[in-house]
Amino acid sequence: MCGIIGIVGSRDVTERLVDGLKRLEYRGYDSSGVAVLDKGKLIRQRAEGKIKGLEAKLKTDHVDGQTGIAHTRWATHGVPNETNAHPHFSGRVGVVHNGIIENFLDIRTELKHRDFRTETDTEVVSHLVDEALGKGLDPKDAFSESLKKLKGAYAFGVIIDDHPDHIYCARSGSPLALGVGDGEMYLGSDAMALAQLTSKLIYLEEGDWAILTPNSYEIYDLDDNKVEREITVLTGGPAMAEKGNYRHFMLKEMYEQPETIGRTLSNYIDEYRLAANVPAELNFEEFDRIIIIACGTACYAGMVAKYWFEQAAGLAVDVDIASEFRYRKPVLSPKSLFIAVSQSGETADTLAALRYCKEAGVKTAALVNVMTSTMAREADIALPINAGPEIGVASTKAFTSQLTALAALALAAGTSRGVISNEAQKRMANALIKTPRHVKQALRLDKQIEAMAFDFSKSKSAFYLGRGSQVPIAFEGALKLKEISYIHAEGYAAGELKHGPIALIEDGTPVIVLAPFDRLFEKTISNLQEVASRGAHIILITDEEGASHAASMADNMIVLPTCDHFVAPIITTIAVQLLAYHTAVHLGTDVDQPRNLAKSVTVE
Ligand code: M6R
Repeated sequence: MCGIIGIVGSRDVTERLVDGLKRLEYRGYDSSGVAVLDKGKLIRQRAEGKIKGLEAKLKTDHVDGQTGIAHTRWATHGVPNETNAHPHFSGRVGVVHNGIIENFLDIRTELKHRDFRTETDTEVVSHLVDEALGKGLDPKDAFSESLKKLKGAYAFGVIIDDHPDHIYCARSGSPLALGVGDGEMYLGSDAMALAQLTSKLIYLEEGDWAILTPNSYEIYDLDDNKVEREITVLTGGPAMAEKGNYRHFMLKEMYEQPETIGRTLSNYIDEYRLAANVPAELNFEEFDRIIIIACGTACYAGMVAKYWFEQAAGLAVDVDIASEFRYRKPVLSPKSLFIAVSQSGETADTLAALRYCKEAGVKTAALVNVMTSTMAREADIALPINAGPEIGVASTKAFTSQLTALAALALAAGTSRGVISNEAQKRMANALIKTPRHVKQALRLDKQIEAMAFDFSKSKSAFYLGRGSQVPIAFEGALKLKEISYIHAEGYAAGELKHGPIALIEDGTPVIVLAPFDRLFEKTISNLQEVASRGAHIILITDEEGASHAASMADNMIVLPTCDHFVAPIITTIAVQLLAYHTAVHLGTDVDQPRNLAKSVTVE
């Protein structure tokens, strides 16, 4: 949420700042802005909406200098207009911020003599620093004294008018990295923003703050002690994901799934032994419970994994959304394994849950797509999914890779705990190995689903039903539809509908039923009939055997390739992704950057 970048150097910075912002646009796209120091004067350009608006303004009214900071916003406090866009200026100070200053109202009251011009929480920071400078403190002390007054989560970049070759920055709760260049220093919300500038990164730790000049950096900890932090050298270059010939990143990312799932598998499945292959420190015999914590789509991956771990390994699994878990009093035991599931590895609530468990002495693992992320760095065990950069805000390939990795972990747990037979282990490993092929076959239904989506896109509301490990896929299908098409949708356990929500079914209400031909097929079909007899329009997503039994009961049918029931949730996912995507395209929404959303949710 919000992306920040800064450069202090000896040549003009604006173009590179804006380029960095584009790489960060996935974090928010309500408004953006850039501020530079030009001959000791703070100047800026800001625009409401996406970064292309800022670029257009800069074309006619360019600002430039050799020290600058920039920001792309996901609004928390104050509507997304130009006034509330960062950088904010107060007196001699300019600031960009990612996070939430929780005590901003108290600080505003304390500084009521000052002229506040925005509705943001951030503006208190520039006022605090400027106020401290006004009292005669030097910039370093003014910055560190101001930090001490703040409560909440933040990553900042601050510039001061008569200190043209300095950037002050700090992190607490929100990610921030420094970049070390040749005669230049950088700061950025993540590696993606800095990769085109340098390969040498320093990840600030909680409470760290720093002073950057073109040729030096100094880092201080929470207690203002000067500290050293390790330099990480990025490998793989500055590649920025491109859309290629695809209309949207989301479509490209859906089509990448045979390959991305294959990459995940190569990490976790030994094709020759037909067995799971997990890091040695993950010894499932040590644990009597698994706690999976995540948000949104990642949480649905965790819910599917609960079925897998229980069935394959006889292990109790708690799955919870991170924003609830962190404020409960969860009962933890030293024999629990905590697994955070997160594409970005930065989601604030999931990270807080991880830290909570780590502090309680529970072994922690982070299943992430970004191995340089805070979760990957802080967890005891970092588990990569290797799906590659996911740019579309709606998560697709990361989800199927999370499922793939979790399935392999469940298989590993079942094997090491002696719950599954040798034969079952080989069958399950084989099923996983065949998944990329089945996903490829499922993607061939694209045109059929596109045609089906035309009528579906006229719906006001839709229901997704499933049983067993298809229930979380029903949730995921509904979430995908909501977030990119803005059609109201809910996922339900098929057996639960008659306990209330069935009252909403009327003539023509679309109900998407996820029913591969497994041991729960007949039960799901009974639930299908309950809604069909009340007028629902049924879209049945099944496999070949299921189709031969239930074709007459569906208004539309999506027939997926037959696969082992163990991996069926991964294959069903492809159908719900395509349905949501084409519905959104028919409706003309902004598929890759849907309204109100941000890819990485770094505020709670
Ligand atoms: O980066 P994370 O996996 O931790 O993100 C979690 C959710 O914010 C994310 O899955 C969100 O629900 C997606 N927009 C869903 O498509």
